[in-house]
Amino acid sequence: MNDDGHFWSGRFEQPPHELFEQLNASITFDWRLAPYDIQGSVAHARMLSSIGVLTEEEFAAIEDGLHKVMSEIARGEFAFDLADEDIHSAVEKRLIALIGDTGKKLHTARSRNDQVATDLALYIQDQLRQHLADLAGLLEALLKQAQAGVEAIMPGYTHLQRAQPVLLAHHLLAYFEMFSRDYVRLWRALDAARVMPLGAGALAGVNYPVDREAVAAELGFERPGANSIDDVSSRDFALDYLAAAAGVSMHLSRLAAELILWSSSEFGFVEISDMFTSGSSIMPQKKNADACELIRAKAARVAADHQGLLSLMTALPLAYNKDAQEDKLYVFDAADVLLLTLPVMAEMVGTLSFDPGRMRAAAEESFTVATEVADYLVGRGESFRDAHRIVGQLVRKCIDEGRRLDELGLDELSGFSERFDEGYHEAVRLESAIERKASYGGTATASVRAQLKGAASRLEGMRQTLDELDG
Ligand code: ARG
Repeated sequence: MNDDGHFWSGRFEQPPHELFEQLNASITFDWRLAPYDIQGSVAHARMLSSIGVLTEEEFAAIEDGLHKVMSEIARGEFAFDLADEDIHSAVEKRLIALIGDTGKKLHTARSRNDQVATDLALYIQDQLRQHLADLAGLLEALLKQAQAGVEAIMPGYTHLQRAQPVLLAHHLLAYFEMFSRDYVRLWRALDAARVMPLGAGALAGVNYPVDREAVAAELGFERPGANSIDDVSSRDFALDYLAAAAGVSMHLSRLAAELILWSSSEFGFVEISDMFTSGSSIMPQKKNADACELIRAKAARVAADHQGLLSLMTALPLAYNKDAQEDKLYVFDAADVLLLTLPVMAEMVGTLSFDPGRMRAAAEESFTVATEVADYLVGRGESFRDAHRIVGQLVRKCIDEGRRLDELGLDELSGFSERFDEGYHEAVRLESAIERKASYGGTATASVRAQLKGAASRLEGMRQTLDELDG
């Protein structure tokens, strides 16, 4: 450490401007990388001792000193100083203060450029493991509600207009599919973050016979990066993380938006637990779906985080540029959002209380069986296009008279087509409409039960891989 508090100031004649120091420093946010920085330093030092760059005693002193620094940070005793610039310099400076000149050997065969990329990859791996577990929790909550709601019939929607009856379980399982794809995406992002930049040096590699494989193995990376320039200049693993996070958040926002609608008096399909709602300071009757609204709002932030890093990286020349220092702001922000919104949604879904009566009434009221009538006529020899027109006329009549399709008598129906017969009233029952959708992936009870079974076994598989990840 030079007299002015910087590691790099040997060739400088003037100290940094205090405004520049503010601009240059990342310590105000990258302190969150401390545990990963220290973990990486211990592995690096161990490797240096294995190749004879450090003696065993030196390594022991460094390892011990780094652990002390970590406990100081964990206990909140560590004073972060703007002049330290970043967490890497802060930790190293403290190490030197604690153990003396031996600490000055830690930065051999290493640059902050490969160090910071490694720290960030380790941080992202950790977040991803948590997100995967949280996502499994949400999938389980959805599956349980779907299992419980397998009898309940609701109107399915297109254009937010009541379209065709579906099982509530079928609708919930659509979210199961969406979040299962997110699970796969998060998993792929984890793979992307398992390539280790450490050992790339500033950009060109290092002048020591470093054992990158050993360091990678100790830190839980799959392998070291194959190109030192790429190692220090790319943030693709962070972009993969943010893209996956943005996908999760987008799906969360859709579920949140539906719960907001469904819990309104207009729908009345579901009651969100008091635990996830709040009231109004003026209107005593209000119960607002704040958790859902905030989850919906935060999806915008995560999408912006992804877009932000993508823009940051666009057109940057190789290799490392200080611009990359700002990558962490996007990553931390997205992680904070997911760390909160995923468990909240899982808990909220688990405590939803559906109103099957309201859902059924909504499905009955709104001609959701009109397609059934058309297909019924097709079954009796009508072409689909003519059947469509005839049923459209029936719907018109019902709207004018304030009636439902199932209230029409055979005498009235025969005026529209002589193909109507006594099978009509069976055809327009909601249950019949459901059971006829027996196509693969459709809403018939048997098909939904098959989906439930498939979902349960996939969740079981996820649980197993998560256990292996922890183990
Ligand atoms: N604080 C920097 C970052 O977050 C660390 C690397 C800085 N490297 C350098 N040569 N200035 O990216």
